[in-house]
Amino acid sequence: MKITAIAPSNIALIKYWGKKDEKLRLPTNGSISMNLSNLLTTTTVEFNRSFKQDEVLINEGKSMKEVDRVIKHIDVIRKLAKISTRVKVISKNNFPIGTGLSSSASGFAALTVAATKAIGLNLSEKELTIIARQGSGSACRSIPDGFVEWVEGDTNDTSYAVSLFPHNYWNLIDVVVIVSQEKKDISSTEGQKITASSLFFKERLNHMNEKIKLCKQFLKTKNFSALGELIENEALEMHAIMMTSKPPLLYWLPSTLSLIKMIKSWRANGLKVYFTINTGQDIHLIIEEKNRLKLIALLEKKPIIKKIIVNQPAQGTRVIKNHLF
Ligand code: DP6
Repeated sequence: MKITAIAPSNIALIKYWGKKDEKLRLPTNGSISMNLSNLLTTTTVEFNRSFKQDEVLINEGKSMKEVDRVIKHIDVIRKLAKISTRVKVISKNNFPIGTGLSSSASGFAALTVAATKAIGLNLSEKELTIIARQGSGSACRSIPDGFVEWVEGDTNDTSYAVSLFPHNYWNLIDVVVIVSQEKKDISSTEGQKITASSLFFKERLNHMNEKIKLCKQFLKTKNFSALGELIENEALEMHAIMMTSKPPLLYWLPSTLSLIKMIKSWRANGLKVYFTINTGQDIHLIIEEKNRLKLIALLEKKPIIKKIIVNQPAQGTRVIKNHLF
C-alpha cells in the first residue's frame, strides 16, 4: 500500500541536548515543544514486492548520509513488521534543511507515520512517537497535537511524547527569522555526542525537571512573559553548553547576535517578544497573536533578514491523500 503523511517541525521551548543511549536516542532530560504550522515535510512510502532495491529521494537530492539514515529507520520498521519487502520513499520539505529549522523532526515524524501504515502496522500514537524517536529524537514531538512533552524515560518503551495542549489552545506565534541559508557545519547528532565535555552540563541536568515543571505551569496559566523569559534563558543555557563543549560549538553568525540585541531593545520599548535558537544560526521569535503585525513590520525594515516564516501552533503528523509519486 502507498501512504503519504505530512508532519510539522516543532520548536523546543525546553530543549533536548544530550543522549544517555546513542542508539535508542534516549535523552538526558525531557523536553517541551510546539508544532509549527508552516515548516512541513510531506513523505510518500510504498513497500512493493516488485521493487528490486530500496529507493529514497529527499528534496530531489541524493545525499547518501540522509538516504542511509532513512533506510536505517525503515529497517527498524521492517524488523517490527517482520517483513523484508523493498521500499520507495519520496520526501519533500517546504523549508530549507540543515540550517537549524529542525528538518529531521518533521522528516522522521512523516516517515514513521507513512512507513508504519504502508507496511501494515496499526500503532497507537504513543508507539509511533517511540519509533519516530529512534530516527531523530526531536521527531517524536512532531507526532502528537499542538504543545507536546517528550517524557525522558529510561528504556525504549518509557521514552515517548504526548500532547499537553491541543494546537488551538493558545495562539502563540513563532516567527522564524532566517539570517542565512548556510548549512550548519556540525549536525545536532554530532554536537550532542560531546555535551558531557562541557563543565556546565551536569549542572544543567540538575535543574531540568524544575524547568519542565515551570514550563508546563506557564503554559497552563498562559503566562506569556514568564514563559518567554524561561524559554529565552533555556536557549541561551543550551548554547552556553555548546560553546563550552570541547571542541566548542558556535552556531551563531554575527547577524544572529545582532538580532538578539534588537529583540532586547524592542522589548525595552514595550513589545513583548522572546527568542529561542536551535542548532544553527536562525532564530525563532515567540510573540502573542495581538502583536504579530507590529513585529513583522519591525523585521521587514532589517536588511540582515533573508526571509521570515510565520507559524501558528499546529496539529501533529497526519495521513493525507495526495501522494508524491
Ligand atoms: C537543538 O533531534 O536533531 O533542536 O536525535 O540526533 O536527530 P538527533 O537530534 P535532534 O536534536 C535536536 C536538538 C535541538 C533541541 C530540540 O529540538 O529539542
